[in-house]
Amino acid sequence: MSSDIGLIGLGTMGAALALNIAETGFDIAVWNRTTSVAHDFAKGAGDLASRITPAETLEDLVAAISEPRAIILMVPAGEAVDAQIEALRPLMGPDDLIIDAGNANFHDTNRRARAATGPFLGIGVSGGEEGARHGPSIMGGGIRAHWDRVAHILEAISAKYNGTPCATWMGEEGAGHFVKAVHNGIEYADMQMIAEVYGILRDGMNMRAADIGAVFDRWNEGPLRSYLIEISGKVAGAYDTAANGPLLDVIVDAAGQKGTGRWTVIEAQHLAAPVPAIEAAVVARNLSSQRDARAAGEALFGAAPKELPEGTLSETVLEQAMIAGKILCYAQGFAMISAASDAFGWALPLPDIARVWREGCIIRSDMLNDMAAALTEDPDRNLMLAPHFANLLKMNHDGLREVVAQGALYGLPVPALSSGLAYFDAMRTHRGTANMIQGQRDFFGLHGFERLDDGSTGQHGPWAHD
Ligand code: 6PG
Repeated sequence: MSSDIGLIGLGTMGAALALNIAETGFDIAVWNRTTSVAHDFAKGAGDLASRITPAETLEDLVAAISEPRAIILMVPAGEAVDAQIEALRPLMGPDDLIIDAGNANFHDTNRRARAATGPFLGIGVSGGEEGARHGPSIMGGGIRAHWDRVAHILEAISAKYNGTPCATWMGEEGAGHFVKAVHNGIEYADMQMIAEVYGILRDGMNMRAADIGAVFDRWNEGPLRSYLIEISGKVAGAYDTAANGPLLDVIVDAAGQKGTGRWTVIEAQHLAAPVPAIEAAVVARNLSSQRDARAAGEALFGAAPKELPEGTLSETVLEQAMIAGKILCYAQGFAMISAASDAFGWALPLPDIARVWREGCIIRSDMLNDMAAALTEDPDRNLMLAPHFANLLKMNHDGLREVVAQGALYGLPVPALSSGLAYFDAMRTHRGTANMIQGQRDFFGLHGFERLDDGSTGQHGPWAHD
């Protein structure tokens, strides 16, 4: 039997993706470094086993796939990918395609695409294990003709939004992994904003986890409807028998990270693309891991008051803050994608990016459909200026301001929400304050400034003649 496609790496995500491919009706050959894993996987695949061919060796894997071959790599991002390509490529024919579907840094994907001695794609796959198994969102990068060869498989296994596959080619080389990185940056900011509001409900409003879960459940029926709000409701509502209370209350408050959010922030700085809410989220994760230092800080300075006077904030105002914060965070992410598109000579399809994020991925939400519509109208316009989102911001930014202000007064940290607010205020201020910075730069370095009144450039202040 000749398989339609191959897959290397049967970890959680690889195994789920392989089952998805088999279930969608394709025959798949699989190989894992530990050979028994491939056999056990095929044996445990139940009805799908007939579509799965476990391979003993890489040579067997290649031989099991019909030509021209396509093999998906689901190995840990980094050196393991290079090692796997190095081992696999010599065994493959000149038209055979390698697809890296891990969470690669897009710079690595650029490098691999340039160095490739045969067809190569880098695809971002989002949706966690559940998504990989039943329909992820897929962001492809590489030569378009190579994508087209496997698009029927990737579209078939992807999530569908009203029947439309959430799998799209984003551009050359590392474009797919770049878009996936920004997805993860937005994911970090979205999660952080939810965590900040959770903190206000818990510490500022003294609510129990189950009641907080109910708040998220209610929000999931309105404009905030999204996967992350939905699971936050479930996380807050979970009961732990060992603790005989809410599970959330016994989870250590130190967040892990594998680096994709950090890559987004580093790249945003290189591109001079402002993504302050995403930066704040990465910083918050870094701070969260400094538990001992935080404990020492609390012992030294005393805990902040935190508890808000009765009636200071309502569920409605918090919802407004979340709506405004979310729009601003996505606006930053899409603006960064637009900046990268120009800087890297990619024509990243912004409306399509919003479309593939509507289902399957971690940041899927109702708002993304409206974002797709707004970006279709004008892909170059900042989302916060699009009429639909401008109206939402007009209705909700006061709520965001109220929450940030009360957070500051009562020592409830809201870094992502307040970064979102600062971005909003900066982005609606025509006359800013950088004239002072230009004056300072000219004072100490004669860097020159432009005059507002006559437009002349390279001007200096009187200090230049001292
Ligand atoms: C997704 C997720 C997924 C994964 C990341 C998150 O889109 O399916 O983003 O890729 O959960 O690894 O990573 P952190 O460990 O950095 O939170």
